[in-house]
Amino acid sequence: MSTALLELRDLHVEADGAPILRGVSLVVNEGEVHALMGPNGAGKSTLANVIMGHPGYQVTAGEIFLRGENIATWTSDERARHGIFLAFQYPEAISGVSVIQFLRQAIAARKGLEELSVLEVRLDLAEWMDRLGMDPAFAERHLNEGFSGGERKRNEILQMALLEPVIALLDETDSGLDIDALRVVARGVRTVREEHPAMGVLLVTHYVKLLEEIEPEQVHILVDGRIVESGDVSLATRIEEGGYDSWRAVSA
Ligand SMILES: Nc1ncnc2c1ncn2[C@@H]1O[C@H](COP(=O)(O)OP(=O)(O)O)[C@@H](O)[C@H]1O
Ligand SMILES: [Mg+2]
Repeated sequence: MSTALLELRDLHVEADGAPILRGVSLVVNEGEVHALMGPNGAGKSTLANVIMGHPGYQVTAGEIFLRGENIATWTSDERARHGIFLAFQYPEAISGVSVIQFLRQAIAARKGLEELSVLEVRLDLAEWMDRLGMDPAFAERHLNEGFSGGERKRNEILQMALLEPVIALLDETDSGLDIDALRVVARGVRTVREEHPAMGVLLVTHYVKLLEEIEPEQVHILVDGRIVESGDVSLATRIEEGGYDSWRAVSA
């Protein structure tokens, strides 16, 4: 039997008293990639944030389990240490920090270490950048230097590769991604899975092309805070043809 890495059980979530998620259930087993699709405002980012323990959201009912453990009382830091990964979206507050400096801190935190040698991180990072086809100069870039969509994705995938998550939550930027950025994600997910085959992935995306390359085990359609259908990649193709209208009717 496969092990459930992440299980959401009838999850209800609010922000500022307004309901956003209205009963989401989902199981990601070891080694599985699940894609989450849905119209803008459906609650996809909320779902990723609430799994990570973002304090701006209130779980009003339901549970989240990581490898069978109810994580309700865990802070975001504890969740990160236990291997839940959501790419850090670097607010202004960390200006002047380079990609490698940030990774060094994040890996130390994930592994429960006080310090990590710069050399060690540099070696790991260089190896991963090579495998992912990234320019080594990227490691020295500063996080708030105005990354393009593709650079954000590179940073996210590098974080995923080096932090060795139990479950990686990859949330798509709202601004859309170009072909280059999609390639970074597709290649990144494939390469990191080869190295860490047990890792689970929950991938938010609009891009059918990306799903065709990544071949997720399951695709879920989220509309108005509910999963209205789950299936294989052919679901994504249906969306490309007809949008979400047929599911909107289901959720209403
Ligand atoms: N922190 C918040 N406070 C209030 N409303 C929020 C918050 N986060 C999300 N929402 C609302 O919840 C809904 C779902 O948002 P979101 O999860 O970002 O959707 P998606 O990622 O699917 O586009 C939207 O109506 C959004 O305005
Ligand atoms: Mg979103």
